[in-house]
Amino acid sequence: MKFFVDTADLSEIKDLASTGLLDGVTTNPSLVAQAGAKSFITLIENICKVVKGPVSAEVAATDYPTMLKEGQRLAKIAKNVAVKVPLTPDGLKVCRHLSDNGTMVNVTLCFSASQAILAAKAGAAFISPFVGRLDDISMDGIQLIRDIVQIYRQYPSFKTEVLVASVRHPLHLVEAAKIGAHVATIPPKVIRQLYAHPLTDKGLAAFVDDWKKTGQTILDAA
Ligand code: E4P
Repeated sequence: MKFFVDTADLSEIKDLASTGLLDGVTTNPSLVAQAGAKSFITLIENICKVVKGPVSAEVAATDYPTMLKEGQRLAKIAKNVAVKVPLTPDGLKVCRHLSDNGTMVNVTLCFSASQAILAAKAGAAFISPFVGRLDDISMDGIQLIRDIVQIYRQYPSFKTEVLVASVRHPLHLVEAAKIGAHVATIPPKVIRQLYAHPLTDKGLAAFVDDWKKTGQTILDAA
């Protein structure tokens, strides 16, 4: 399973990239606003220098001609840019056009299996179903991932990867991994939560204490 980080905060991205566990990045207009970046283009350029895997950069317009121009501009930033478009009729037209011309497209704001089928048919590299936002309205976000993965498996001609988005806690990730989703985009806070277990902390503290009792050091050993 590939791990993307869901943030536009460059210092967070640098820090997480240094773990060697990061396969890509997703941003969206809200995350860019939150990061306070003065130039979106420069921000994406800088992220693409740090992470070699797909970096999603979202168009701002909602009409086909402007979204297409924006998408083409974003795709020029670096080879690893995945242009993010909304799951609308115009967004999917842009997806078809850019995908046919060799640009990766991430179709975002997916909330149903029927939408995911359309994105695959439009040649999307990624479909982003939002699990947390579905849970928020008492719908089962993980069930949507199960449905999309099952549907895509029936059609080997669909090359679209399921990119689990709106991840709110480690269980979302574990459930998505059990289903076989290709990618999860995870907020930095949740990535850090993945490491945590009280028995790891307790066990490590005991090992450190007991090692002191041996009076030895590994590095000074003959
Ligand atoms: C996906 O690409 C989105 O950026 C993101 O996962 C949305 O998450 P949220 O619902 O927590 O805003």
